[in-house]
Amino acid sequence: MIHLKEKKAFITGGTKGIGFGIAQSLLQEGISVVITGRTEESVQKATSELTSLAKSNNAKVLGIVADVRDYEQMESAAKNALENMGSIDLVIANAGLGHFAPVHQLSVEQWHETINTNLNGVFYTLKVFAQSLMEHQGYFISISSLAGTNFFAGGSAYNASKFGVTGFTQAAMLDLRDYGVKMTTIMPGSVATYFNDHVPNDDDYWKIQKEDLGQIVIQLISMHPRSLPSKIELRPTMPGGTRK
Ligand SMILES: NC(=O)c1ccc[n+]([C@@H]2O[C@H](COP(=O)([O-])OP(=O)(O)OC[C@H]3O[C@@H](n4cnc5c(N)ncnc54)[C@H](OP(=O)(O)O)[C@@H]3O)[C@@H](O)[C@H]2O)c1
Repeated sequence: MIHLKEKKAFITGGTKGIGFGIAQSLLQEGISVVITGRTEESVQKATSELTSLAKSNNAKVLGIVADVRDYEQMESAAKNALENMGSIDLVIANAGLGHFAPVHQLSVEQWHETINTNLNGVFYTLKVFAQSLMEHQGYFISISSLAGTNFFAGGSAYNASKFGVTGFTQAAMLDLRDYGVKMTTIMPGSVATYFNDHVPNDDDYWKIQKEDLGQIVIQLISMHPRSLPSKIELRPTMPGGTRK
């Protein structure tokens, strides 16, 4: 029997988009949640938006300002989360961004920001929680992308980061599953979020919605301990909204 309400989750990049949607879904199940983001303003805004949902489901929500590119900030975020929640047994490495340009036009700064956020950030997130996950037979989920298996022009930095996330999560899963830690990488196609300066709008009706990711996370953590879907490719059923 899986007792969802007893779980405590930590989500990087939970201030909007996919991370925020997963936080909403977890809180609806009574799971307490820690979210992170880069600025005091974004973290406070998201935390106050989630507070009534938390209260009505007897759960807690905590916002922490922490940049996934900075290992020391992630260490202190983990310490803060563990002190406030008592334990953390579900970690979602979601924070990410994209810079898209032909490789000869991509700047060194864009390359480093993409790799530092999307790839180093996922490693740091696992690193600071590995001990806690091993102690509680916890669950680690990374948000990769279909760009972590399909490459495209203009995607050299993003593809490199997401191929990295896919490979990292699969290899780390082999290291930690013997300790009872489950690990899954979710690889979505287009999701209606604020990614790459997009603003969600009515034309996004065909895209995956943030609550769909929340639903998958709930399904994953509800599965029997003996079974582990280690990699999930999640596609819009009708890309672009067309049907033949
Ligand atoms: N949208 C898509 O179509 C799609 C498809 C496949 C995969 N993904 C992946 O899904 C993940 C979430 O993206 P999204 O679509 O939800 O984008 P989004 O709406 O732009 O949200 C990005 C989130 O990441 C946070 N973030 C960015 N850099 C950060 C950093 N250095 N440290 C901490 N937090 C940081 C942002 O928080 P602050 O701004 O508050 O710092 C925000 O909460 C990313 O890894 C992305 O690559 C997205």
